[in-house]
Amino acid sequence: MNQFLIADPWKIIEDRFYPNRVKASESLFSIGNGTMGQRANFEEQYSGKSFHGSYIGGVYYPDKTRVGWWKNGYPEYFAKVLNSAFWIGIDVKVNGQELDLAKLKILNFYRELDMRHGTLTRIFTVEMKDKTEVMVKSVRFVSLARTELGAVQYSVTPVNSDATVEFASYIEGDVRNEDANYNEKFWELVGQTTESVTMRTKKTGFQVCWMMANEVNAPDARIEKRGREERVEEIITARAADKQPLVLTKYVGIVSSLNHQPADLVTAAARVVKEAREAGFDALLEEQRQSWLEKWKSCDIEIGGDEAAQQGIRYCIFQLLQTYTGKDSRLNVGPKGFTGEKYGGGTYWDTEAYCLPFYMAAVGAEVGRQLLIYRYNQLDKAIENAEKLGFTGGAALYPMVTMNGEESHNEWEITFEEIHRNGAIAFAIFNYIRYTDDRKYLAEYGLEVLIAIARFWAQRVNWSEEKRKYVILGVTGPNEYENNVNNNWYTNYIAVWCLKYAAFAVDYVRQHDPGRYEAIVAKTLFDAPFEVEHWYDIIGKMYFPKDVRRGIFLQQDGYLDKEQTLVRDLSPEDRPLNRKWSWDRILRSDFIKQADVLQGLYFFEPDFDLETIRRNFRFYESRTVHESSLSPCVHAILAAEIGDMDKAYEMYLRTSRLDLDDYNREIEEGLHITSMAGSWMSIVEGYGGMRVRENKLSFSPKLPEEWEYYSFKIKFRGRVVKVTVQGTETVIDIEEGEPLEILLDGRPEQVIRERTFAAPPLPDEA
Ligand code: BGC
Repeated sequence: MNQFLIADPWKIIEDRFYPNRVKASESLFSIGNGTMGQRANFEEQYSGKSFHGSYIGGVYYPDKTRVGWWKNGYPEYFAKVLNSAFWIGIDVKVNGQELDLAKLKILNFYRELDMRHGTLTRIFTVEMKDKTEVMVKSVRFVSLARTELGAVQYSVTPVNSDATVEFASYIEGDVRNEDANYNEKFWELVGQTTESVTMRTKKTGFQVCWMMANEVNAPDARIEKRGREERVEEIITARAADKQPLVLTKYVGIVSSLNHQPADLVTAAARVVKEAREAGFDALLEEQRQSWLEKWKSCDIEIGGDEAAQQGIRYCIFQLLQTYTGKDSRLNVGPKGFTGEKYGGGTYWDTEAYCLPFYMAAVGAEVGRQLLIYRYNQLDKAIENAEKLGFTGGAALYPMVTMNGEESHNEWEITFEEIHRNGAIAFAIFNYIRYTDDRKYLAEYGLEVLIAIARFWAQRVNWSEEKRKYVILGVTGPNEYENNVNNNWYTNYIAVWCLKYAAFAVDYVRQHDPGRYEAIVAKTLFDAPFEVEHWYDIIGKMYFPKDVRRGIFLQQDGYLDKEQTLVRDLSPEDRPLNRKWSWDRILRSDFIKQADVLQGLYFFEPDFDLETIRRNFRFYESRTVHESSLSPCVHAILAAEIGDMDKAYEMYLRTSRLDLDDYNREIEEGLHITSMAGSWMSIVEGYGGMRVRENKLSFSPKLPEEWEYYSFKIKFRGRVVKVTVQGTETVIDIEEGEPLEILLDGRPEQVIRERTFAAPPLPDEA
């Protein structure tokens, strides 16, 4: 457990000021509402090291790619989520002296992120240079109910004398990204009023208006408006009596051209601010609390007897809920959400492979559907991407990183060849329909995407005369510590799976919705018999590398030629490899960054028997360094599946408290949002064993020794289902909706409302 944070089931708490951890805490205490997010920067000036970050979903800049030697196929740009105007700013002077935590004596400091209610609070007392002591309290949130509103209440209370307090509340539009390829500024000014700044992104032309209103509880306060280009500022000066708080309330409307006509932005922001003022801070705060309580109702996970684990999982759920709400199908889930700039805020395969299960099961089928629609809407761009690489005839290659559908990755050597992402996008369609039973989705949207993806694989394979098999050459699998390999087992497997599923979908839509089928055939110029026949030829003749003696699938051709060393023999000084070893050394070693063969066993688990999963798990786990945050969760789920509860727990802890405990020592850059969905999966799919089998919800619950009990809730086909596992019992409760037939450890059981089942004994570990 991180020694800097206090364990609490619902809160993240720091009870001291750690000057060396300011940037890390700015990430950890971030807040967001699915539309925008704000790092936990201080409102008042801070001259120590800090990383300001305020982000708005969907507002990005195409930063021109920077490479030494250009090659055909490089993306033109790397899309970046933009650090945008700093709207929380409130500089403070007490008796003319600056309040700056880097320079003053701090008498006490407390910060809490209340995950249950979606608020960030900071309370501290400082001694000013003239010995005046002041207590400061700030409460802020970005509203879940009013997605274009942020609010701060900031109070200063002199505690040992009267004092003159000056607030300079401002919006600063002159901001830059820390991460910029050519050190350019990405914004330009459109216009400003005394309360608002409107900025436009260069090249992409997104416009955003920030407008503030400040209220202070001192009728005789002196108010002066200042500012300069790109900055508006209101200076409020008042006398605060000893022990009497001087309270500044700041409402900020943040509206963008994604949702309004550019010409209407100022009016729209003014409306947000006006309505917020009419409601008042306390009512808005209450609204925020209620909105969050409502969210938690159907997706909480409780863990009994392990506070660190409890805090860890709630933190993951909270961050996921703050990052994506599913209200807008143009938005998605960046690996760092709204908490940093790394990965550019773009969409990765993380969404389909990791995030979808959480959003569709914990938040709601319609939210999962939005994630799929996002890709559907980008199909034309995926076809263009494939064309740029030489594919034809409507084949689609979805990008590894994207904002608008175009490929915009920054690491050509690695990500260019990670074509497996196309498979995850097809798998997500299957996974969504399997879980929700929304079969209409196939005809409405799914089939078009599947045909285009299948066309890609059909062209990407090679016929090997030597092997008399189809092969897939020159790829990077999920394990990014191997590049440009041949016959990555996972890629070959998912390619074949995509072809099979596309063939199934073609048949299904033809039979169930002939009208729509004809329309799709006409639109895509689909030559059904010929194309599907070719798909079946590949399905029947694909090459899969394996090691018969060990009874395992081989990660790729030649994997066993590598010196076979195990992670347990690595010296701690060598970790993490990606910082300590040269890329050359990493590529030559057998060490695996993240689940690769095991990712395939996780996705396609029903295709394999337990012994096969166990053998592969043993082999690959001992070679995996988990230097991607996406890795431990898959290992946790498979470990639970094969009954290795110790490993499952080790992996679970690593995933669920990755950021809270800063395992990878990089949270200053932002949080690992997408892997947080993996933590949720580790409990629900790992320990709970939740699957959909035979079109039924299925569980095979296991309880880690370290916990007294756990419970989770999911939404399933119009119901809210709560599963509690305690001691030797599993309680399944249909909290909302119709009775349900489930499978429990493979047995069909009818659950009308609440039913208790005796759990079978834990399977012995072989
Ligand atoms: C992982 C990728 C992942 C990306 C973004 C990388 O470190 O290897 O699989 O898509 O991070 O999370």
